[in-house]
Amino acid sequence: MTRRRLIGGAGAAGAAGLVLGAAGGATGYAATRPDEPTALTAVGSTQVMFHGKHQPGITTPLQACGHLVAFDLVPGAGRKEAAALMRRWSATAGRLMAGEPAGSGAADGPDHDTGIALDAGPSSLTVTFGFGRTFFERTDLTDRRPPGLDPLPPFSADRLDAARSNGDLWVQIGADDALVAFHALRAVQKEAAPAARVRWQMNGFNRSPGATAEPMTARNLMGQVDGTNNPKPAESDFDRRIFVPDSQGASGASGAQGGTDAKYDWLAGGSYAVVRRIRMLLDDWEKLPQERQEQVIGRRKKDGAPLSGGTETTAMDLDRAGSDGKLLIPDNAHARISAPEKNSGAAMLRRPFSYHDGISADGTPDAGLLFICWQADPLRGFVPVQRKLDRGDALSPFIRHEASGLFAVPGGAADGEYVGQRLLES
Ligand code: HEM
Repeated sequence: MTRRRLIGGAGAAGAAGLVLGAAGGATGYAATRPDEPTALTAVGSTQVMFHGKHQPGITTPLQACGHLVAFDLVPGAGRKEAAALMRRWSATAGRLMAGEPAGSGAADGPDHDTGIALDAGPSSLTVTFGFGRTFFERTDLTDRRPPGLDPLPPFSADRLDAARSNGDLWVQIGADDALVAFHALRAVQKEAAPAARVRWQMNGFNRSPGATAEPMTARNLMGQVDGTNNPKPAESDFDRRIFVPDSQGASGASGAQGGTDAKYDWLAGGSYAVVRRIRMLLDDWEKLPQERQEQVIGRRKKDGAPLSGGTETTAMDLDRAGSDGKLLIPDNAHARISAPEKNSGAAMLRRPFSYHDGISADGTPDAGLLFICWQADPLRGFVPVQRKLDRGDALSPFIRHEASGLFAVPGGAADGEYVGQRLLES
């Protein structure tokens, strides 16, 4: 079979061999490696760049498989060990994202790759690293800890499990192939030794590329089209909303909490990730008639169009009423309450994975959303919106926030640099 035919056969998955910058844009076509006996499909050969202004896995299109892992530094490990770990992890992430073997970064591990991803291409693998609040105490860097890492406020509906929340370090792995994702997970876990130990791990998934006739916004496990009104990279205020600016340090995009301080410069080009494990009470949700389900969100289930009319991409008309005088998008609809225009412009990039961890002892599915949102400042993104949702979201009776994390995600590593170097070596 020629490569050309394979490309044709890739169908809805798109063009073969795309190389994606960390920002998610297609930067060109990658020839498959000369030593590969057979060309890969588009899914396998798509590569995301590790080095760049921003870390990968933020604006990269949603991948089919995800692992979220938090680590704590072991007692006695400090800044030196953390720096060595970030150097190891970054080198491995760069290799794996290029479709190369992991090599050996493990200080006490065997010098070979596990072979789990041996036959696959990069498969859009991304590995993203973040630092939790406690990381700065452990590394004696509290003076460099940005105010954006102040603990999230408690919310009345929180049912948080501390053992599955926060952590010194956070790693997000995403790939369009489950074995490629697991391969990266194993490498990252093994290389954590001897500096850090896993605190918690969560596994998630999204729709596989090519499963729909044309690329579409993803659905979640409630069946809703989810992600429609995300900020788009093409929008002029996207960078300002999602990434910490170069000049303002990391006190939040507003600069309101400490001004433009060089001590936070290490976070320029970075972002904050809020991670929430949100259980969906699917047995209750699925009993609701579709019409009620649609009113809970304010959008149609079939195509994600707002209840005020139009198609998925039509702007919501929050003032439009039906013939009975009632608002078409109800007062307590999730999409109304979370809309930036109802939250002084507060916006975030939602980039979640669904999860399913089997059935709980009470017989209900332990399933829901690994909600991950990205913003330049959590106090201008997640916090005000969640405060408002907490007070009156029609979705609340059907979900439960079970774990929470807040992480500062440094900017992307330049060539020859590792992620977090500007914090750990200055
Ligand atoms: C399991 C929990 C959740 C589910 C199932 C869910 C589902 C949805 C759906 C279906 C939409 C409409 C389509 C779209 O624009 O993406 C939406 C919009 C949105 N959601 Fe959620 N959501 C959840 C939790 C949250 C949380 C915790 C937040 C933030 C605190 C949030 C913030 C938003 C925002 C900002 C929008 C866009 C509003 C707009 O600009 O129109 N969501 N969500």
